[in-house]
Amino acid sequence: MNVLLIGSGGREHALSWKLAASPLLTKLYATPGNPGIAEDAEIVPLKVEDHAAVIAFAKEKKIDLVVIGPEAPLTAGLADALIVEKIKVFGPQKIPATLEGSKSFTKRLCAEHDIPTAGFIETTSREEARKHIEKHGAPIVLKADGLHAGKGVIVAMDKKEALMAVDQVFAMGGDAPVVIEEFLEGEEASYFCFVHGEQVLPLASAQDHKRVFDNDQGPNTGGMGAYSPAPVFTKAIEKIVLDKIVRPTARALAQAGTPYSGVLYIGLMITKDGPKLIEYNVRFGDPECQVLMPRMKDDLLTLMLATVNGELDKSSVRWRDEVAITVVFANKGYPGAYKSGAEIRGIEKANEIEGVTVFHAGTKHDGDKIVSNGGRVLNVTALGKSVTEARERAYKALSLIDWPEGFYRSDIGWRAIAREKAK
Ligand code: AMP
Ligand code: GLY
Repeated sequence: MNVLLIGSGGREHALSWKLAASPLLTKLYATPGNPGIAEDAEIVPLKVEDHAAVIAFAKEKKIDLVVIGPEAPLTAGLADALIVEKIKVFGPQKIPATLEGSKSFTKRLCAEHDIPTAGFIETTSREEARKHIEKHGAPIVLKADGLHAGKGVIVAMDKKEALMAVDQVFAMGGDAPVVIEEFLEGEEASYFCFVHGEQVLPLASAQDHKRVFDNDQGPNTGGMGAYSPAPVFTKAIEKIVLDKIVRPTARALAQAGTPYSGVLYIGLMITKDGPKLIEYNVRFGDPECQVLMPRMKDDLLTLMLATVNGELDKSSVRWRDEVAITVVFANKGYPGAYKSGAEIRGIEKANEIEGVTVFHAGTKHDGDKIVSNGGRVLNVTALGKSVTEARERAYKALSLIDWPEGFYRSDIGWRAIAREKAK
């Protein structure tokens, strides 16, 4: 099979690494790719916004499957355009991708189908928003509509902060309704399923670290590290999430004539009243994908095809018993302004540590050097018998990478490690 992978982050390097190991693969192409992905794929320069260009390339190279990594091409309808041309694509079409593209779409779906989520209102009026905040007080959560790379959500811990955030979230979402919702207390976890219509193949759980600094301090980021599985996500919780959240969502979209196809990212708060949906994403998580792929025993390409072809009911997936952890090596200044272009040395040495794979996220070639090219630059990933072991390996590997312009959190996996210690 010839496969075209779209994307350039650590998530896509983890996908190219796993796809390259597939016995079904003849040739892997990637666009725009990165130096890590270039080890697994031929990089091709395509303008992904230009759907006609992607279609022309797919026809010329006899592409059997297009795999879309990030959300932007999905919400822009690239999958729809490919399907019209009878080109197989892994990733949902534009309307089901609205699960990620619009907070109010998802909240309405939850309300209509009794899916557990935070209580909310949606409004297009700043005045109504302020009144609601005055009435309910803080903590309270404000969400702008649309894609905002994780920055469209404000968790306000006091009323003044919430009132000040009103203008900001309205400005971000344009004329679309703003969601104001109840603050949920608990531990966050993410869960992933392949979905095709009403068919659901559960994958695995992970936990991300969203704040930039140790002890969960500082601003939110796209994610500073992750591990899988998430111990808080027990079998009992998994069953509730499948029965009360994932299956009703898949059914609702299928029955509306806009079936979902692809991987569904279920962002959850595990509260004392059970799991509640925080958000859906219509793609793998980044960096969660980097800890799922090393744990997946079965062939990813076979599973992606089963998703596209609606054969999930006949499919199964096995996972390694080991846990995986990934630590994001980020550019100093991220998630604010930072400088790109500094040389990174020692990636090969880090890769030699047992169980370690370094995924490239924001790097590029400069002659024969690897240099930084983004906020999140490398994802140093390790498998281990325990989170403690995986974490030791990841941090040992990090110490071998010579990049003074970078920084990373030193406490990735702390919740799981505290649980291991308590045993
Ligand atoms: P979202 O983009 O909806 O996932 O929100 C980003 C982050 O904000 C989540 O990962 C949570 O940490 C936090 N968050 C969102 N909604 C809530 C909520 N209702 N209660 C508490 N925290 C929330
Ligand atoms: N790591 C969070 C996300 O991919 O949305």
